[in-house]
Amino acid sequence: MISIIAAIDQNNAIGLNNRLLCHLPNDLKNFKQITSGHSVIMGRCTYESLPVKPLPNRNNIIVSKSFTGNLPAGCNLTRSIEEAVELCNNEKECFVIGGAQIYRQMLPLAQKLYITRVQDSFQADAWFPEINDSEWQLQSIVHNKPDDKHACAYSFEVYTRVENSVANLIDQITAWIIEKTQGKGVVIGMSGGIDCSVVACLCRLANVDVHLVMMPYGDDMRNTKSLNHAMELIEKFNFVYHIFDIKPAVDALTIPLESIDCSKKSSTNIKLAHANIRPRVRMSYLYQFAQINSRLVAGTGNLAERTVGYFTKWGDGACDLNPIAMLTKKEVYALAQFLEIPDSIINKKPSAGLWEGQTDEEELGITYEQIDSYITNGTTGTPETDSMIENRIKMAEHKNNKIPYFLKKNCNC
Ligand SMILES: NC(=O)c1ccc[n+]([C@@H]2O[C@H](COP(=O)([O-])OP(=O)(O)OC[C@H]3O[C@@H](n4cnc5c(N)ncnc54)[C@H](OP(=O)(O)O)[C@@H]3O)[C@@H](O)[C@H]2O)c1
Repeated sequence: MISIIAAIDQNNAIGLNNRLLCHLPNDLKNFKQITSGHSVIMGRCTYESLPVKPLPNRNNIIVSKSFTGNLPAGCNLTRSIEEAVELCNNEKECFVIGGAQIYRQMLPLAQKLYITRVQDSFQADAWFPEINDSEWQLQSIVHNKPDDKHACAYSFEVYTRVENSVANLIDQITAWIIEKTQGKGVVIGMSGGIDCSVVACLCRLANVDVHLVMMPYGDDMRNTKSLNHAMELIEKFNFVYHIFDIKPAVDALTIPLESIDCSKKSSTNIKLAHANIRPRVRMSYLYQFAQINSRLVAGTGNLAERTVGYFTKWGDGACDLNPIAMLTKKEVYALAQFLEIPDSIINKKPSAGLWEGQTDEEELGITYEQIDSYITNGTTGTPETDSMIENRIKMAEHKNNKIPYFLKKNCNC
């Protein structure tokens, strides 16, 4: 969960000349208490304004496109808001700590606000965005009077986001798609499932030119009725579509086991390695198609899948943009209902199509409802299931983290 913490004056001012507006020791204490032990995301200017760098006992994440210097241990440099959010993906609560530019961009992503409201007004050149009543509900307020260490009255206020209506969420996503596609069309792998159907409809709503590509392995989409489901969506919304049979490519890429030493490999590994060829071949088709037509590949993995790493690295995980990457499966279902996606797609069991008859929940041994609950509440309510999810998160680190690159220091050959 992303939270924001800020001290603002009566006019929403937060700073002048890259400094805070006033000194409130109790506010600093409150800030330390709330953010300690968590990741804190800040803009480059706020980082530079810190008297002590990094903020101790916190994972300091700095957002900057231009920063080139060295950062002390305890700091992570990210080049975009998305990259910063990605770094905190598995945390129960992380904090956006300013300044104005970062607050403005991250307010739509936040679920909770910790606001110190200072009962005074100051000269300023940086402001907090408006806290809109229709979006934010005041949960608690603690009033503090001025004293010998605090020149003015101030209150600690906590706001939580008013449950976002689906329409509002769709508006936000379509605006984001418009921004990220910049007039380009998209290509989407169409399995006949709910995630790709939602992404296709969201892109269509954003007025993006959508091409859907179905990539059966032989007759598998026909046998599982996925082809019928996909065609129902295509006909209902009049999508342009293409079909490529991946069987010849997959079969050609499958290493015959008798030709290699498999003594160290478990049968599960062999089964998965072979199954993963399908999404990787699909990825090759999508990127080939996208490049030929100067399109972008839109990804369709949701937050639940990403959290437990339920996707194929360099397969269905590969994309240029993903509008539902931060949505739980429950949210994807809510969007699907709103977008009037055919019931046959909404009601069927989710499957990654790794082999015929495969269903995600059976393969995972965990339900999407449980993963959503872990993401939202930090627990499924059952310690064994929590630890299964935590194991999966750990095992998926290599998929969700950036590739480690060796950084050379002071040596030019
Ligand atoms: N009252 C409070 O609670 C509070 C808290 C924090 C800060 N403040 C105040 O806020 C003021 C600073 O705010 P500010 O708006 O000037 O600066 P800021 O938000 O701290 O940092 C802005 C910088 O962040 C980077 N950045 C912003 N958006 C980015 C993006 N999408 N991708 C990559 N980098 C991005 C850019 O760095 P590059 O230019 O390096 O690319 C940009 O110049 C100061 O006065 C500070 O004291 C107040």
